[in-house]
Amino acid sequence: MKKIEFVKPVYNLKDLPKDDLPAIVLCGRSNVGKSSFINSLFNTKIAQTSSSPGKTKSLNYYLAEGNFYIVDLPGFGFAKVSKKERDSWRELIEKYFAINQNIKLVIHLIDSRHEPMPLDVEFNSFLRTTDVAYIVLLSKADKLKQSEMAAAKKIVKEYFPEILMNQNCFFYSSVKGTGKKEVTRMLSSLFQT
Ligand code: GTP
Ligand code: MG
Repeated sequence: MKKIEFVKPVYNLKDLPKDDLPAIVLCGRSNVGKSSFINSLFNTKIAQTSSSPGKTKSLNYYLAEGNFYIVDLPGFGFAKVSKKERDSWRELIEKYFAINQNIKLVIHLIDSRHEPMPLDVEFNSFLRTTDVAYIVLLSKADKLKQSEMAAAKKIVKEYFPEILMNQNCFFYSSVKGTGKKEVTRMLSSLFQT
């Protein structure tokens, strides 16, 4: 993937882009590597990353290859967030999926070093109530040994039986580029880039 530009942050759903360009949506807990994923895919530093969770507070719209959006959603569920904030996140996301007919693919990032969190399980259940296609990326795969990768595959399968490794689930590393080829291939075929 070559070209990416920042379009705008969306804080309120009435400010979503008015055109009908297709979109892929990045979702996952705070600090899982969503913004780093964008940077690695396009070899850039356009998306702000941070080691302190909760960096991304808006729905950040990027235009990729001039013909589809990549939407970096705010991360869910880091410890300091109150129940009220979590509820407002849930409400925003549910409304976003309900009104947005242009979502072609959701990329759910899960930290490969940890078991899925309750909010990952909840988000996966929510996705299955929609008819939108999704894949799981097991992020920060550079931190795992071979044996830990095998364990991570098994765990994700236990939580999400519909997951098929290398079909709708890939290891990903923004540091080493693991999974980049597979994801690029998938996006290229979705968007004919
Ligand atoms: P929020 O915006 O808070 O939701 O976080 P995010 O999901 O956008 O995470 P971000 O990309 O900002 O990354 C969080 C931290 O993890 C940063 O310190 C990154 O450098 C680090 N990180 C992201 N991806 C990888 C990876 O593939 N490998 C390693 N080792 N570190 C990573
Ligand atoms: Mg981010």
